[in-house]
Amino acid sequence: MLDLPTIPDLRRWTRGHRAAGRRVGLVPTMGYLHAGHLALVDEARRRADVVVMSIFVNPLQFGTGEDLGQYPRDLPRDRTLAEGKGVDALFVPSEVMMYPQGSEVRIAPGPAAARWEGAVRPGHFDGVLTVVAKLFNLVEPDVVCFGRKDIQQATLVRQMIRDLDWPIEIAVVRTVREPDGLALSSRNTYLESEERQSALGLSGALQLAHQAWRGGETGAAAIEAGMRRSLETFPALTVDYIAIADPGDLAPVARVDANTIVAIAGRLGRTRLIDNITLGDGLG
Ligand code: PAJ
Repeated sequence: MLDLPTIPDLRRWTRGHRAAGRRVGLVPTMGYLHAGHLALVDEARRRADVVVMSIFVNPLQFGTGEDLGQYPRDLPRDRTLAEGKGVDALFVPSEVMMYPQGSEVRIAPGPAAARWEGAVRPGHFDGVLTVVAKLFNLVEPDVVCFGRKDIQQATLVRQMIRDLDWPIEIAVVRTVREPDGLALSSRNTYLESEERQSALGLSGALQLAHQAWRGGETGAAAIEAGMRRSLETFPALTVDYIAIADPGDLAPVARVDANTIVAIAGRLGRTRLIDNITLGDGLG
């Protein structure tokens, strides 16, 4: 696996491959890799000839008082995992490399950014789309892979690609979970063992929504009520939102179908966790 220490190195690498007719895949991450990130690499390898992974904890997408300072990092381990999965090149820029003159311009996402995570974390998606746009310009990828786990992020990136005419194919990869249902997340490392148990309230509530739908329930309000009842047995878990929404624009729906998204976010102590399902797929 090649290290691309500078932006000119990255550009040379990616342009060389494209000039030779190879498709370049990009997997953007903030590191502290787990099997969810690695599933994106698998997908990128299926869709591209060469794959570059970026690892950058992007300060622009963290609000004041959020976990930027504590965000877990382990570059040597990340490097081993990425190489083991067949990542061809790794780009790990410093903050100065990405924002040498600071950062004044921001990508303003569409209205779907105001909901859910955007309501709880103002400015978060401006920061995400700005760094993702920069990575797209630096790498000029043919295909990019994002996780369904962050469904709002994936939706906004898809809209940005469409609205700004980037000739990029986007793959949104299913959520990788622990055997007990908890969605893998770099932030799971913050959880104490009791909190880890309570975190199951999130995937449990989603599972319940899936079961209700399979049992013939199509009313969003009834599904949400069932989820909220099940969450009462997890008093340590503070629910930020439950959303039952259209996959295109994330607008709430009253009647659900197989493509409807059910999203949930909650807090355990200082740790914030998010999860979602596509109703027809369940936890999958
Ligand atoms: P990060 O949280 O490191 O996630 C990188 C990618 O991995 C995202 O596309 C995310 O949706 C995906 N991912 C995370 N957990 C997953 C899981 N359990 N199963 C499948 N995919 C999963 O998301 C970011 O970084 C940043 O916002 C970034 C896009 C890199 C911009 O800074």
